[in-house]
Amino acid sequence: MGRGTLSHMEKRIIVANWKMGPDSYEQAEKILAEIKADAVALRGAVTVVCPPAVFLRDLSLKFTGKGASRIAFGAQTVFPGAGLAHTGELSPAMLHDVGAEYVIVGHSERRALGESDSFVAEKLSAVLKAGLFAILCVGEGRRDEHGNYFQVLEEQLRRNIPDIPKRQMEKLVIAYEPLWAIGENAIHPATPEEVFGTVIFIRKVLTERFGKSFAMSVPVLYGGSVDPETAPRMLDAGGVQGLLVGRESLQPKHFISILRSAKLKK
Ligand code: PGA
Repeated sequence: MGRGTLSHMEKRIIVANWKMGPDSYEQAEKILAEIKADAVALRGAVTVVCPPAVFLRDLSLKFTGKGASRIAFGAQTVFPGAGLAHTGELSPAMLHDVGAEYVIVGHSERRALGESDSFVAEKLSAVLKAGLFAILCVGEGRRDEHGNYFQVLEEQLRRNIPDIPKRQMEKLVIAYEPLWAIGENAIHPATPEEVFGTVIFIRKVLTERFGKSFAMSVPVLYGGSVDPETAPRMLDAGGVQGLLVGRESLQPKHFISILRSAKLKK
């Protein structure tokens, strides 16, 4: 699936980031079996399921291809180095081999473990060079009334996106994930208005570096405490092309209603 062939800008992208859950393959299969019909029914969209890497192979064998063409798989992280001497790490080639087409890069929960901007850039480059979609997560730690968070975002985008040939950039996806809106410690989800302004800003930064047509072609998603209530508002008024869903993606009923709200209106 290249951006050209799936006309990426017209597709909604709903990412399910399962984080470190569930505990067993059996449970993983059950969750996916429950959401499958709705993901498959969602025309004009792709649902990217990012389970823990140990479940990727079996899930992707069971749930891709025939009858499930609107489901794709992704990894939650990757290691960019070459050679053997990286105990415990997984390369883009390995992830691809077990069915991943997408890789989340620079998630704030990984950055909190010490991943630097330059390391994120190395990962992004490795993923894109391997021909996989890279979902780059960016977002400020806090917002103040002076708008300093714009600078934080601009720097992240500058430092995290490496200088690689433009044709390799075709599979870049950006997820705007303000840290204050993510996970169990979230203060509150961002408002669609806050996200709308930020998406325009992200495109402006991309335009300055890569030109307008490229900047406009990069899908921008929103992530952070997305639930059945915020999902439709964000998709309608947030100016985003999709969502990155964390905790709620492990709750099949909730995730199904998020998927239903992502149905494109005619
Ligand atoms: P959350 O996580 O939906 O649980 O806030 C979002 C994410 O994984 O980035």
